[in-house]
Amino acid sequence: MDDPTGDGADESSHAFASVSVLNCVDLSCPDIHKSVSLLKRACLDSGFFYIINHGISQEFMDEVFSQSREFFSLPINEKMKLLRNEKHRGYTPVLDELLDPEHQLNGDYKEGYYIGIELPEDDLESQRPFYGPNMWPASDLLPIWRETMERFHREALDVARAVARIIALALDLEGDFFDKSEMLGQPISILRLLHYEGRVSDPSNGIFGAGAHSDYGLITLLATDNVVGLQICKDRNAKPQKWEYVPPLRGAFIVNIGDMLERWSNCIFKSTLHRVLGNGQERYSIAYFVEPSHDCLVECLPTCKSEESPPKFPPIKCQTYLSQRYTDTHADLNSYKSH
Ligand code: OGA
Ligand code: NI
Repeated sequence: MDDPTGDGADESSHAFASVSVLNCVDLSCPDIHKSVSLLKRACLDSGFFYIINHGISQEFMDEVFSQSREFFSLPINEKMKLLRNEKHRGYTPVLDELLDPEHQLNGDYKEGYYIGIELPEDDLESQRPFYGPNMWPASDLLPIWRETMERFHREALDVARAVARIIALALDLEGDFFDKSEMLGQPISILRLLHYEGRVSDPSNGIFGAGAHSDYGLITLLATDNVVGLQICKDRNAKPQKWEYVPPLRGAFIVNIGDMLERWSNCIFKSTLHRVLGNGQERYSIAYFVEPSHDCLVECLPTCKSEESPPKFPPIKCQTYLSQRYTDTHADLNSYKSH
């Protein structure tokens, strides 16, 4: 039988799943109170919202997608030359990542490419996890790839900082709270290009574009092409879980709260479970994960605790938390050496 709400047993009937209406924050809006209020309501409700007029031109976004497509169209042996390293830079093949082992048969039916903040090998900071030189496709293959991605990295960080200022105000903090050097002054931001194969997902048999997960950091900015696929589940404890589609919005970023901000805010702001279902069409997306610096201590904010609501999590260093989450979800690199 059809399942019009998408929350019943027959999860494979994608067409009937409900669609989420997200708040839209206009970064060019001069009324900051309005933006703070829209963002706050979104963070209390679903932890997901759109941002528009963020300052990155549509023309440039289109170029980033076009370069991403060119990379993923390369033959697999070219892509495997750039297999990710232990610093999480480079290519991640299909099935490399397993986000939801309880419900997934194999890994995710997506391939990706990680690009971090570029630091030369001889820089002392390069010895820290997540820092160091990037891996780049040969310039004779993709001549403007590197400059396109480096520019996107810089521009997206500016957008993330602007969003973080509104978040700070929404949490009754000073607007520049996240601008400090141990936070977004020197972030570990990671750009990830993603390409979903045209495979149809089959939730009841454990086949997903991306398995259910929440993101690890402060916030994620997500740009998608026009193909639907992203779903959110506002209440992870509901039985059965109810999944809602987040429709693509051209020119916008979909922003979501990550686990670190959930910890910081003592669960006032939600890091919501999400996943991607394939519908038979190829799909491209670009995620920009924004995390504070290595030594940043993520601990309950003064404005988010009280006698009735004491801190729910112990403080943890950003680097410790992130390294653990990446190790938990990615295949062991040694597993590729035997092939
Ligand atoms: C992610 C993610 C969603 C998408 O990379 O963490 O949730 O639409 N991506 O690709
Ligand atoms: Ni995610």
